Amino acid sequence: MTRVLAVLGKGVVDPETPILPADDLGVLRGDGVFETMHLRPDGPWLFDAHLDRMERSAARMDVPLPPRAALVELAALARAEWPDGAEGALRLVCTRGTETGGPVTCYATLNPIPAEFQRQRREGLRIATATLGVSSQVRGDAPWLLGGVKSISYGVNMASQRWAARQGLDDVLWVSADGYALEAPTSTLLWLDGDVFCTVPTSTGILPGTTGRHLLDHAHELGWRAEERMIRPTELESTDGAWLVSSARGVAAIKELDSAKLPESQHHTQLQQLGGFPSA
Ligand SMILES: Cc1ncc(COP(=O)(O)O)c(C=O)c1O
Repeated sequence: MTRVLAVLGKGVVDPETPILPADDLGVLRGDGVFETMHLRPDGPWLFDAHLDRMERSAARMDVPLPPRAALVELAALARAEWPDGAEGALRLVCTRGTETGGPVTCYATLNPIPAEFQRQRREGLRIATATLGVSSQVRGDAPWLLGGVKSISYGVNMASQRWAARQGLDDVLWVSADGYALEAPTSTLLWLDGDVFCTVPTSTGILPGTTGRHLLDHAHELGWRAEERMIRPTELESTDGAWLVSSARGVAAIKELDSAKLPESQHHTQLQQLGGFPSA
């Protein structure tokens, strides 16, 4: 059950309070936007970057997002209910509103980081490739496919993860129809090639991840330079380490991909520290 719930226009409410009208387009069509942030003792990490992305997503979907100050206030209301110092997953959700033109529904939830993610930060990930069925070029030219948009339509993302779980795996790495690694259903792919720290170009339609961006922007602190590159999944076996990263998962090393062992990087702990994620 959600631990903390704050609703725009209502404030903090009992987490079991029903808050969505039955014809809310978020429920009917998955029509809305959201962000998940890593709540730290000093506030939501990379808060501005998340709000920027939420505004970009809403603009791409023509969802009338409330003013930024209202979202900041909503997050603050939720945060005030959270134990000081505990890490958490803070989610902001905004749907288009009802079928008959009713106002947007906007709310914030706060929950603990899943124990599974904390284990994955320490022990790494066993994952498999799974096709996303779209070429690495198509989403840039087809805005209706919502490449790069964090919409609440995560049915395909969750189905991909259930498919992985049925095989006893931690996640999937989505692959384009033309054979390139893209991202995971809730995480960005990063890899190290010598002293070049790499990720996939956003022109492929992947979500521009805030965690990945932060790590790439600070890569110089580890003596690396950052680059966007295309890579085929089997080529990850000859890199110097590969990771899936996100706000909630943190930094998790990929230790096995399609049953092949990936190289173990000596820099894993440094990367966790660069992101400020607790690793224990
Ligand atoms: C599809 C997808 N890619 C990447 C990410 C990682 O983004 P961030 O680092 O901003 O959490 C997410 C986060 O939920 C995601 O849903």
